[in-house]
Order: sequence, then structure tokens, then C-alpha cells
Amino acid sequence: GRILVIHGPNLNLLGTREPEVYGSTTLAEIDAMLHELGQELGIEVESFQSNHEGAIIDAIHGARGRCDGILINPGAFTHYALAIRDAISAVGLPVVEVHLSNIHSREPFRHRSVIAPVAVGTIAGFGSDSYLLGLRALANRIRSQR
Ligand code: DQA
Repeated sequence: GRILVIHGPNLNLLGTREPEVYGSTTLAEIDAMLHELGQELGIEVESFQSNHEGAIIDAIHGARGRCDGILINPGAFTHYALAIRDAISAVGLPVVEVHLSNIHSREPFRHRSVIAPVAVGTIAGFGSDSYLLGLRALANRIRSQR
């Protein structure tokens, strides 16, 4: 199996970006942990970060027929990017949404996700563990559907 990990806007700054909210682990460290867990699970992990909605949409389209699922932290696009939601619906791949922070305990504008209705499920609030838990959940899902 192959999983595409997509990190949305501002996540390239992880490590120095509001560490009290997002932790001090860098994106490179998260990617390294995901690759390591992928090896354990027998899954190829490919990761991608962009600050641009269109580039994220292109990456979702590009996963069609090539990847078995997508793990995504859409960053602030979570809350309003209907074109990302539509891209997920269009490709029909299983998607797991993850967030470092607990979006439900923060500002009201973060409580709504336009991605959640088209995701298999969402994991939020566990820092970098959200990604690792999400990868496990997606790998199990892909395996059980074979
Ligand atoms: C985030 C939560 C979003 O509300 C925020 O805009 C982010 C990061 C998270 O991982 O906690 O950029 O997706």
C-alpha cells in the first residue's frame, strides 16, 4: 500500500510556530516518524507540504490510481476550503484528517471542518501523535478493504 501525507499551509513552520499550541516537533521530524511507522506497517509513505490550495488539489488528483489513501492536515483550509473537499470527493480515496491541536477547544471558527464530512474520520489534539494515530487508522482501513 501507498499513502500520501499532505501538510497544508503554515505547517512548514512547525517547530517555531506557536510551540505552545503546535509543539516543538518540526515537520521534517514528523515526516521521519511517519516514514518509520510506514515501514513497520508495510506501507510506503510519501509526504508533501504546500501553502497553496491549488497545489494541494493537484496533489489529491495526482494520488488517484497511484495511492491507496490520503492522510491530510489541511491547516486553516480545514475551515473553509470547499475546493479541497470537492477534490477529495472526486478522487474517492479514503482520507483521514488530522490536527495537532484540539480544534474543538479553540476559537469557534476552528470548530467547523468542511473536510470532515468527506473523511473516513478525524484525529485531533494529540500533537504529532495525531499523525501517527491517523496513519495507523488509515493503514488498517486500507488493509481491511483489500
Ligand atoms: C491545525 C488547526 C488549524 O485550525 C490551524 O489553522 C492550523 C493547524 C492543527 O493541526 O492543529 O494551521 O490544522
